[in-house]
Amino acid sequence: MSDIHPTEALRALEAEALEAIASAKDLHALEDARITYLGRKDGRISLIVRSVGTLPPEERPAVGQEANRVKERVGQALEAREHALTGPAGGPAEDLTLPARRPWTGGLHPITRVVDEIWGIFRDLGFTRARGPEADTEWYNFEALNTPLDHPAADEQDTLYLEGTALLRSHTSPVQMRTMEKHQPPIRIIAPGWVYRRDTYDATHTPAFIQIEGLVVDEGITFVDFKATLAEFARRFWGPGTQVRFRPSFFPFTEPSAEVDVKRLITRSDGTTFQTDWIEIMGAGMVDPNVLVNAGYDAERYTGFAFGMGAGRIALLKYGVDDLRTFFENDLRFLAQFAR
Ligand code: DAH
Repeated sequence: MSDIHPTEALRALEAEALEAIASAKDLHALEDARITYLGRKDGRISLIVRSVGTLPPEERPAVGQEANRVKERVGQALEAREHALTGPAGGPAEDLTLPARRPWTGGLHPITRVVDEIWGIFRDLGFTRARGPEADTEWYNFEALNTPLDHPAADEQDTLYLEGTALLRSHTSPVQMRTMEKHQPPIRIIAPGWVYRRDTYDATHTPAFIQIEGLVVDEGITFVDFKATLAEFARRFWGPGTQVRFRPSFFPFTEPSAEVDVKRLITRSDGTTFQTDWIEIMGAGMVDPNVLVNAGYDAERYTGFAFGMGAGRIALLKYGVDDLRTFFENDLRFLAQFAR
């Protein structure tokens, strides 16, 4: 060990050892470094530690302390490098062949998707979007729509009243009246929005849900426009092989009224097809002249048609889900299936 002072020698060895440890590419190389510097028998640092006893007594404490520090530092570096070279499961820390973890992306709620898709179809057919207040009055929700207040729909059993004649709208049809008040024909609107009813929460009812209202009013609108527009919508939404049926019905604000049913043509994964049963997708009809008069329109000059559908119900049918509540309970395992 000659004429270099042991403290100097220790510091030089420390730097050298740390360098060797840092560049050890695997556990073998690391073990070699350990033996070279800290090996019991003739590790280079160990030899100096052992030689402390041969130094003049006054030098021993300082050199001994430095020797211990270096030993410890190199020991820690060995341990850290070993951790870095072995993964938590004992395997390699980095396996570059592992597929990347998919980033967590958000997705639109299935009902939002349905609303967007339906709105998109009507937009392509020349409709614009309209909205109205969720808290409305008996006039807009019922009377203006030719629905007398003694009609069962206006009953407190079904409608959530606020104060006096104020209520939470029970359908989006009041947007028809609010739009007609502000605009003159031609009118061609789609109005999606929340509606509220005193319903018990079950597989097919939720006390708040989204409806999509449509209204067309102009000169010369006929039953043919009504049927053709809704049939076109149904085929664009449910597929070209869809059959559409208009079943006579009754709504106070339309005359005649209809319920629209579709029979879908579904293609299985093996390419074969089958037809579903008839399923009801909306209520609709030719706008009752009384409604046009309530809007201040000349009912001799203008005619129109209207329709309304529940977005949740459409989503159930479209996605083959059998319980509306799943759309409201925000279980990510359910919702993630709809995220693209
Ligand atoms: N408002 C009706 C409901 O809530 C749905 C409806 C039926 C809307 C016929 C319409 C219509 O515009 O013409 O059940």
